[in-house]
Amino acid sequence: MTDLYAVIGNPIAQTKSPRIHAEFARRLGQDLRYEAILAPRDGFAAGVAAFRAAGGRGLNVTVPFKLEAFALATERTERAEQAGAVNTLKFDGAGMLGDNTDGAGLVGDIQDRLHYAIRGKRVLIMGAGGAARGVVLPLLREEPASIAIANRTVEKAVALERRFAPFGPVEGGAYVRLSGRQFDLVINATSASLTGELPPLPPRVFASGSLAYDMVYGNEPTRFLVHARASGAGQVADGLGMLIAQAAESFFLWRGVRPDTGPVIEQLRRG
Ligand code: ATR
Repeated sequence: MTDLYAVIGNPIAQTKSPRIHAEFARRLGQDLRYEAILAPRDGFAAGVAAFRAAGGRGLNVTVPFKLEAFALATERTERAEQAGAVNTLKFDGAGMLGDNTDGAGLVGDIQDRLHYAIRGKRVLIMGAGGAARGVVLPLLREEPASIAIANRTVEKAVALERRFAPFGPVEGGAYVRLSGRQFDLVINATSASLTGELPPLPPRVFASGSLAYDMVYGNEPTRFLVHARASGAGQVADGLGMLIAQAAESFFLWRGVRPDTGPVIEQLRRG
């Protein structure tokens, strides 16, 4: 019997998830169907219930429902607890397991696909919203030398420092405090690229051989990646790899087999 999965969000028209999961399924010979569900902003729980009643086995959850999914889950993985948000639901009997695969997607893309080891590196995360919060712990687990979190609204960066300092060397503060410092891995976890903006980075933060990573992706390099390239970053990458790697991690949770992300990234890059 064909198993049913979907991504639920609002808006949802632009989602690439159905294409990614269909491609995983095709390559791995898995019998499943994957749809996109547009839920009204006040209709997340009802949308989940209806999908489940129709035989759905699991959901990906996207903007703006990741916090509601966290609350709705009857059980949560540790990484979902730490991220404070859920992007993957798995229906098990009467229960609903909530997971968060975003951080694993980022780390997997950086280390496995781009072959950039995080251990011992000086990491800078720009932004302190949901996207940043979800990746701090998975990055810390790889034992970087340090993680600096910079945010326009300084209190949010300081709050992340407080939350994650028990797990490793994390500090949060303003962009100006980065002045004169250098980083090996600079991750843009702000939404600035979506509006063509650039976070207020001081000059010379990119160490030689550094990797600049934007969680946002598009047909053209983002403004941050263009800036990074011009400012001495050794390697740049956008978030398409992370998107596909987090999808692969969800697929693994549901199906117990792990798709290879590389060929699917190339396929989507071609359009
Ligand atoms: P997400 O779930 O994508 O993280 P969010 O929680 O709304 O979305 O967070 C957006 C992040 O991008 C915030 O850290 C925001 O900074 P503020 O907390 O100061 O608002 C950051 N951001 C958005 N536009 C930015 C810009 N032009 N320059 C710098 N930071 C920006």
